[in-house]
Amino acid sequence: MEIVKNDRQSFLKRTHTCGDLRSRNIGETVILNGWVDTRRDLGGVIFIDLRDRHGLTQIVFAPQHNEEIYRRAQAMRSEFVIAVKGVVDHRPDGTYNPNIPTGEVDVVVQELEILNKAETPPFHIQDRVEVSEDHRLRYRYIDLRRPVMRNNLIMRHTMAQAARRYFDEQDFIEIETPVLMKSTPEGARDFLVPSRINKGKFYALPQSPQTYKQILMVSGFDRYFQIVKCFRDEDLRADRQPEFTQIDVEMSFVEEEEVFTMAEGLMVHLLKEVLDIEFVAPFDRLTFKEAMERYGTDKPDRRFGLEIVTLSDLVQNVSFKVFSDTVANGGAVAGFVAPGCGSYTRNQLDNLVDLTKSLGAKGLVYIKVTENGFETPVQKFLSQDDLKTIAGATGAMVGDLILIVADTWKNCYSVLGDLRMEFGKRLDLIQKDTVDLHWVTEFPLFEWNEDDKRYYAMHHPFTSPRTEDIGKMKDSVEGVKARAYDLVMNGNEIAGGSIRIHTPDLQSLVFEKLGIGPQEAGEKFGFLLNAFKYGAPPHGGIAFGFDRLVMLFTGQKSIRDVIAFPKTSSGLSLMDGSPSDVDPDLLKELHIKIVK
Ligand code: AMO
Ligand code: AMP
Repeated sequence: MEIVKNDRQSFLKRTHTCGDLRSRNIGETVILNGWVDTRRDLGGVIFIDLRDRHGLTQIVFAPQHNEEIYRRAQAMRSEFVIAVKGVVDHRPDGTYNPNIPTGEVDVVVQELEILNKAETPPFHIQDRVEVSEDHRLRYRYIDLRRPVMRNNLIMRHTMAQAARRYFDEQDFIEIETPVLMKSTPEGARDFLVPSRINKGKFYALPQSPQTYKQILMVSGFDRYFQIVKCFRDEDLRADRQPEFTQIDVEMSFVEEEEVFTMAEGLMVHLLKEVLDIEFVAPFDRLTFKEAMERYGTDKPDRRFGLEIVTLSDLVQNVSFKVFSDTVANGGAVAGFVAPGCGSYTRNQLDNLVDLTKSLGAKGLVYIKVTENGFETPVQKFLSQDDLKTIAGATGAMVGDLILIVADTWKNCYSVLGDLRMEFGKRLDLIQKDTVDLHWVTEFPLFEWNEDDKRYYAMHHPFTSPRTEDIGKMKDSVEGVKARAYDLVMNGNEIAGGSIRIHTPDLQSLVFEKLGIGPQEAGEKFGFLLNAFKYGAPPHGGIAFGFDRLVMLFTGQKSIRDVIAFPKTSSGLSLMDGSPSDVDPDLLKELHIKIVK
């Protein structure tokens, strides 16, 4: 039997989508186009759920309606693409499907066209699939038919449109910036593109439009935004992709407060428009130091407690050398309380110590608070008074477990931050239905890199130091704070930005402190420094990680689930097989030789 007819130029064009029909349409003759979702053959009558991106509609084939069509319907399989013409009918009483908007009706088919056959799909088109992510990515076109994935992409669209409306209404101008640009170090590695016409020279793909948006301020555009692809050749994780999207923003004649107001306005607008959540500005602010010392991270999840308490002052004179020496050497001792974990077994505690060490700590002191006093492996080094003081400071109660780490400031708090997250999850304390949005401010301008033995810009080299720190920066960069800020949502860094340097002198000074001499600065950033000579306004901005925002709004765990065609964690696109070998002639033209 010939199933697909190719002899017709035209086919039955839909009058409605598969999500449209309701009881008010009963009696109408309609045409639907779509995919065969599920097919139930009850012997004598065939029910098919026809699917398109708008929904599902049940269509019915019965021999008493049309014998020939009924026979053809028997040959149909999942994912065939069909067009049907028929009459909208009530579903029989008791067969309503309250789970879908079209659940009261079905369409009794009078005409059928099979527009295309389909091979058996590699997995079912349903929200819960028991297949590996690699398999889903290889057959992404099938994966994207699953309702959850379709809804993710639709919400992504809704958010992009809502953002565009917001910026347009706020008098921002969307300007596109180049994708082939000069390689300028910004933190990650650049992706390079060889130039055929200019032998031996390379373009870089932008890590962000940072330098362009600053130059647009010099050009007087005042309020810029762009929803833009950025490219970074870095190690990938669940919340990182080599190409990702930013909502990129820059404003002239502003300071932190104006940027905060604009960014808070965007978040309030998106939450309201997309999720119907009322979130009230202004958002809370934490300094970097506070965030680290209370939550052990610069992107705190404040949807649960377990706050870290600094114990350095209290333990600086104890006889336990691990504590007192750490404080004497300028490190920190801090801890938090795991409520109700005082009954942990020896095995559980050993595992906890191992976990802490795997997070990078030298050890973990735990103290059980019991009816009969304290139990801890360091009993002989800490007096009852010491233990009481620690319990008092951390707020521990009988039945609790106190966890303490001593290390350098950074290590101590980051390890505790990881442990805090672990206990937040383990004890199921995270209030998943609340939104936590706050700023982190007062980041250090420079970050020491032990491997390279040099300072790097913590944000990027165009970030302004605080005015009061500029003077002291000439002598030492330690303690110099940046006019940088991050926006954190539910423990994720969703945006980052800063007030920029806008004078060539200060920019040169910062380059110098980063070990970038005048010649290197000229080669790498000469275009920006030159632009600054011709009247650069004070300016600042921010960029939102759009994929992360969509991930949080849709409740997904990975940004890959909100990107139509993402790369795997090893940077592969499994569907099209990139990166791939290229024709040797192409390489020759580009003057590139692969050395294996
Ligand atoms: P930053 O590097 O902080 O700032 O990036 C801004 C935001 O982009 C998101 N993001 C990523 N998302 C997915 N995959 C990645 N690999 C990735 N890297 C970053 C994060 C981050 O908060 N030019 C500056 C912004 C500015 O100063 O205005 C910049 O790019 O959510
Ligand atoms: P040690 O002196 O190495 O035998 O350690 C004694 C106890 O202190 C053990 O329970 C260790 O896990 C713990 N400990 C060691 N170093 C640290 C540290 N830096 N922070 C917290 N606890 C530690």
